[in-house]
Amino acid sequence: MSPLRWNEGESVLVSFDGARRYPVVDGIPCLFAPNEWPQGKSDVTDMVKSFYEETPFPNYDDLDGRESLQTKAKRGVFARLLDEQLPRSPKVLEAGCGTGQLSNFVGMGWGRTVIGADLCLNSLRLVKSFRDRCSIENVQFVQMNLFRPPFADGTFDLVISNGVLHHTSDPEGGFHSIARKLKPGGCVIVALYNWLGRQPTLWRRAAIETFGESWAALDPRLRGSRLTSGRWAAWYMDQYGHPHESRHSMSEVEQWFSRSGIEVLMGIPPAGGEDFTEDTQLLSARAPRSGLEYIVSELEMLLAGGRDGGLYMMIERKKAA
Ligand SMILES: C[S@@+](CC[C@H](N)C(=O)[O-])C[C@H]1O[C@@H](n2cnc3c(N)ncnc32)[C@H](O)[C@@H]1O
Repeated sequence: MSPLRWNEGESVLVSFDGARRYPVVDGIPCLFAPNEWPQGKSDVTDMVKSFYEETPFPNYDDLDGRESLQTKAKRGVFARLLDEQLPRSPKVLEAGCGTGQLSNFVGMGWGRTVIGADLCLNSLRLVKSFRDRCSIENVQFVQMNLFRPPFADGTFDLVISNGVLHHTSDPEGGFHSIARKLKPGGCVIVALYNWLGRQPTLWRRAAIETFGESWAALDPRLRGSRLTSGRWAAWYMDQYGHPHESRHSMSEVEQWFSRSGIEVLMGIPPAGGEDFTEDTQLLSARAPRSGLEYIVSELEMLLAGGRDGGLYMMIERKKAA
């Protein structure tokens, strides 16, 4: 994408060559560019966008505010460790931020530049109104297609994509597209559905499709849930009504990284007997894991009932030039 200039009279962003015009809707720059893929390659982007426009994910609780967002994020350990261990004045991109809790939380930190980007305008409207209400200054939100990010290569210290790539037609291509935006030495965090850890959710989905919605009670997050109805519906639809998902093994994802010049730092849940504790250093180097260690970790996810819908996270670093 070529650089943009702001056309005040028409309230649009225009590329310097004049070839492309991007509206700003409700204060959100709409920098979406469609995929330009060969004919015949499947593209689920429009379908996935329509799905999330109906049910923005993960949505907010009615009473959410600055303090409650911080409290919830810190309860999750990962967000707290990330907040504590980010380098000084980092530039962060969250590709597929949804309703943007993590971007808003990270954007509360002093000296940071955070961009939360998503396909779905309704999610971005929710997150922007939360940001404005809570006066969170270091985060901006844009509509974007992660296959065509409107940023120069090598811009960011950290790129996060949590639960997104498996809802695209080309998860590995999407990974390379966002990884290109990293500076040398920068880190990327991706969370994906695991091929084994996801199985309990797929069994529940089959039960719901066969016997009806009441079987959603098999899901620990939905049973006797404290989620407000918007959050309940968002989780239910995301897990049991989604039109497109894929699942990936840890070894497969590690191969994507090595093809992108990226080394694995750690997984969550960790493989190879490592524990995930309050003292874990997320962004430090570790010895490589073997295929067997990954399989053991995946089996543990299955035996634990596939928590978080069988989502696992991998944290990696782009090799310094
Ligand atoms: C399951 S939600 C995850 C939201 C957020 N990362 C979280 O963890 O709560 C998946 C998000 O990915 C976004 N998404 C899917 N395909 C995308 C694409 N090609 N470009 C940008 N965002 C995309 C969807 O709009 C949706 O908000």
